[in-house]
Amino acid sequence: MCGIIGYLGEDQAVPVLTDGLERLEYRGYDSAGIAVFESGGINTIKSNGRLSALREKIREQGTPQGTLGIGHTRWATHGKPSDYNAHPHSGQNGKITLVHNGIIENYLELKAQLKAEGVEFKSDTDTEVVAQLAEKNYNGDLIETVVKTVSQLNGSFALGILCEDYPDTLVGVRKSSPLLAAVCDKGCLIASDITALLPYSEEIYRMEDGEICMFTKSGAAFYDFDGKPIEKSAETVGLNAKSADKNGYEYFMMKEIYEQPETLRATINQYLTSEGRVDLGEASKGFGELKDINRIFIVGCGSAYHAGVVGKYVIEELVRIPVEADIASEFRYRHPILDNHTLVIIISQSGETADTLAALRLAKESGARVMSIVNVEGSTIATESDCVLFTRAGIEIAVATTKAYSAQLATLYVTAVYMAQELKTVDDNEIRNLEHYLAVLPDAVEKALGTKEQAKELASKYYEKDHAYYVGRNIDYAGAMESSLKLKEISYVHSEAYAAGELKHGTISLIEDGTLVIALCCCERLLAKTQSNIEEVRARGAKIICVSTEDNVKALKYDDLLLVPATHPLFVGSLEVVPLQLFAYYAAKFRKCDIDKPRCLAKSVTVE
Ligand code: AGP
Repeated sequence: MCGIIGYLGEDQAVPVLTDGLERLEYRGYDSAGIAVFESGGINTIKSNGRLSALREKIREQGTPQGTLGIGHTRWATHGKPSDYNAHPHSGQNGKITLVHNGIIENYLELKAQLKAEGVEFKSDTDTEVVAQLAEKNYNGDLIETVVKTVSQLNGSFALGILCEDYPDTLVGVRKSSPLLAAVCDKGCLIASDITALLPYSEEIYRMEDGEICMFTKSGAAFYDFDGKPIEKSAETVGLNAKSADKNGYEYFMMKEIYEQPETLRATINQYLTSEGRVDLGEASKGFGELKDINRIFIVGCGSAYHAGVVGKYVIEELVRIPVEADIASEFRYRHPILDNHTLVIIISQSGETADTLAALRLAKESGARVMSIVNVEGSTIATESDCVLFTRAGIEIAVATTKAYSAQLATLYVTAVYMAQELKTVDDNEIRNLEHYLAVLPDAVEKALGTKEQAKELASKYYEKDHAYYVGRNIDYAGAMESSLKLKEISYVHSEAYAAGELKHGTISLIEDGTLVIALCCCERLLAKTQSNIEEVRARGAKIICVSTEDNVKALKYDDLLLVPATHPLFVGSLEVVPLQLFAYYAAKFRKCDIDKPRCLAKSVTVE
């Protein structure tokens, strides 16, 4: 979802801007543009389509010469993808040029006022309204102009701003849409995502909501939305440019699938003491009085929601408090019953998903306690939660989440064990048993990666199928949902996930000779039930890929098998998803899809 890059330094801006935009491509976009401060003024070049189209246009029109500029990749919200709707946008006199991430909720009202004052608009975007408004407010002082302009905007906005009268000044603004900055020997940069800054510096300024940054050749200054100077210090992030490179893998997705053991170790070990006991440390304070909690909601979108479904089964089993897993876009509009005895667990890799953020805000307004499981430090969801359990999955570039999803599951296991321990709903022997399986989970996942060749072979056998049905019960059902999403979002094969017991209530009518059914059979106590569902579809000609653990497989009949290591019954969700991530990857590869950047999708959906 949209990407911002800005640069002020000694080098030519265009290479820095286009390289930054390339690193932001994974966020999803449909047009792109740059604006560079040249001796004769601000030169803007923008293009519908991929970055390659923008690069072509830059070549055709001649590369702008200057050391100050901004760039943007746009995922269309207001106004269709086109050259004229692409960012950057300028005021009608070219005084102010800017790029924007987010949504200006009162843009129509502002646009009407500006039009009534004779302003001519060139695009359908809310962003151009900001540029025209800033130009109207311009009084010769850029910071005063920015302060006045942001006071008139409702909604979310990260801005990168240039002004014709300020040839050596780059301004950034943050409100509810991420913006980061870096000052290094190459100069000053702003970006909407850390991946664009890592090649230059690991010293990052995390802009908070209501902050303005201004970079000039003499240094950096920060202000609040009242125009008051504020102090900010950079922090050293434990990431480097390598984190945002493929490091020899053909696609980021495969790299991230293979990073799962190491990121699981990093995630789990932050919550295990040297004796292997679960300890949330400071984060536990955010839970409040656990004994006062009588209801839990787990809320997220897409894979984060699927992790929530796993979390529901695990927490209910161990903690014996009712848990509802909810899709954020449903939760926020169904008037959920929340009060100060409710714990809402928000799950989000990016920490910026609009529906999930809205669900968080609804929960807080209703008096519920909000704990979040987030992968990006400084993200809006992390900032607004009462307490945060960070996953340590590192930067995840592929749109299809893998390592972040696995880390979300592990963090939910840690949460469940912590709560069971505190509320004494599980005896200490079982707590120790759970802690043991937590500690060895990364090794089990590493072993599950050994299914790569079988998964590839099965993908080569089935990638031309038009439909696939994933079925399972209990945690296997959640795994079926996640694995189905993996396949469809990157290979474009239609797939659905069903609770195995539900097939005979309608969907079985779709099963015919050769239909692919992938049965997740890792929940031992429900194996016989799932096996009879497998028999029902085999009797109608289905081809069965079965995913099971070494100690369960003897009870099953199937056409093809993917075996994963045994683990604690509550943790099977972390194992069964691995071969099916690989299956989806290879199906997409054989179908010649753009695995890391699937059509129509964005890494972080910051619009409703
Ligand atoms: C999963 O592969 C998708 N990329 C998508 O469903 C994603 O999980 C969803 O958009 C939620 O994103 P978040 O975790 O950043 O909130």
